Amino acid sequence: MSPERLRIGADRSRIGVDRLPIRTDRLVLRPSTAAYAARAFEIQSDWQVTRMLRMASFPPDRQAVADWFADHEREWQVGTAYRFAVELEGRMIGLADLDEIEGGQGDLGYWFEQDAWGHGYAFEAASAIRDFALRTAGLLRLKSGHAADNAVSGRILAKLGFSPIDIVEVFSNPRGENIRQCRYVLEGNP
Ligand SMILES: CC(C)(COP(=O)(O)OP(=O)(O)OC[C@H]1O[C@@H](n2cnc3c(N)ncnc32)[C@H](O)[C@@H]1OP(=O)(O)O)[C@@H](O)C(=O)NCCC(=O)NCCS
Repeated sequence: MSPERLRIGADRSRIGVDRLPIRTDRLVLRPSTAAYAARAFEIQSDWQVTRMLRMASFPPDRQAVADWFADHEREWQVGTAYRFAVELEGRMIGLADLDEIEGGQGDLGYWFEQDAWGHGYAFEAASAIRDFALRTAGLLRLKSGHAADNAVSGRILAKLGFSPIDIVEVFSNPRGENIRQCRYVLEGNP
């Protein structure tokens, strides 16, 4: 059995994925750590950002955000989530991640500060995460979703190659009410 084969887990996703930065044309995506929590708290303090995130709380809780970021290295080591702080010229402008990793599939997500919107950064970062998921982490299938009133995110997912599957009703934690969620899937190459 080849060494590469040994690195494939029972669910065919890779275990022991190196925590390395990813460089794109304009951005650096760094595996996130507790050091990024303060900036993440600032970004999530903007209702226009947080209202689009299904699980986030608003207003954000500084300690909860710190605890969450402090757990990112452990999540990575056990292979349940790969999260990246997205940096532009050395400053964190957002987060792009893969979570709910199980059985060779994972969920793609991203959020950026309002000042960074409209420059193609989300698409640039999410493209790199999609490639990392399928080529480096060995995932076979990606899921994602957005609130029905978040057409910009739908545009990004379509450009990434995701296909719509359905629209379901889910509870939005920040909004405190049920919303319609558009769900998508992207199949990797066999
Ligand atoms: C959604 C979000 C990540 C987009 O970030 P961004 O960096 O501005 O996105 P990009 O510039 O990469 O791409 C936006 C695309 O949507 C298009 N777009 C802009 N407004 C649009 C609208 N109202 N309807 C449809 N498409 C729209 C843009 O034209 C662009 O497509 P193009 O490259 O083909 O022109 C950002 O607004 C954000 O962080 N929002 C809050 C959190 C969030 O919504 N996260 C996603 C949860 S599913």
